Amino acid sequence: MGKNKDKDKEKDKDRQKEPFLTDIAELRRRARKHMEEGAVTEGYRADRDTVIKLLNEALATELVCVLRYKRHYFMAQGIDSDPIAQEFLQHANEEQQHADQIANRIVQLGGSPNFSPDGLSMRSHSEYVEGKNLVEMIQEDLVAERIAIDSYSEMIRYIDENDPTTRRMLEGILAMEEEHADDLASFLADMDKDWKRRDRTVS
Ligand SMILES: [Fe+2]
Ligand SMILES: [Fe+2]
Repeated sequence: MGKNKDKDKEKDKDRQKEPFLTDIAELRRRARKHMEEGAVTEGYRADRDTVIKLLNEALATELVCVLRYKRHYFMAQGIDSDPIAQEFLQHANEEQQHADQIANRIVQLGGSPNFSPDGLSMRSHSEYVEGKNLVEMIQEDLVAERIAIDSYSEMIRYIDENDPTTRRMLEGILAMEEEHADDLASFLADMDKDWKRRDRTVS
């Protein structure tokens, strides 16, 4: 215990020796040195290639979600399910915004966003499932949202403090995926109640 405490004290001393910020001239020198790297400076602490790879998987996931929600939106129209169809459309648009944010960040990091339809569903974490009826559509969307929640949470844990901008973006997206999952779960619960009510009137 005592030894550990001593070690901690030594570490604190070392930290205090480091200047809080590199001096301005040094910051400017580093910023100019690799100007072609855009937003990525020498202070970038994450493994850039891995972050870009993860973001491209997230991009594929979002694009598959856009396609699935669009399909569900068009199929749900006109079958006494307008509120749900509208919800599908809203989700499709929000997934598209996520895809755009992610693609933008990939470019900022010096990577290239992969929009290729070849292998899109293989790169995506969530699946494109059409669903035979409204309940199946909602269930499949809920499954996809839960997968997205898990994979964004994992990415956030991986990035940790090493790339605060990507992390903040992912946290924003994660919060919205949680809202999506919650909306879908509410729809399923409402439909369940509705059916139970109808069953009682029948029997
Ligand atoms: Fe999304
Ligand atoms: Fe979502």
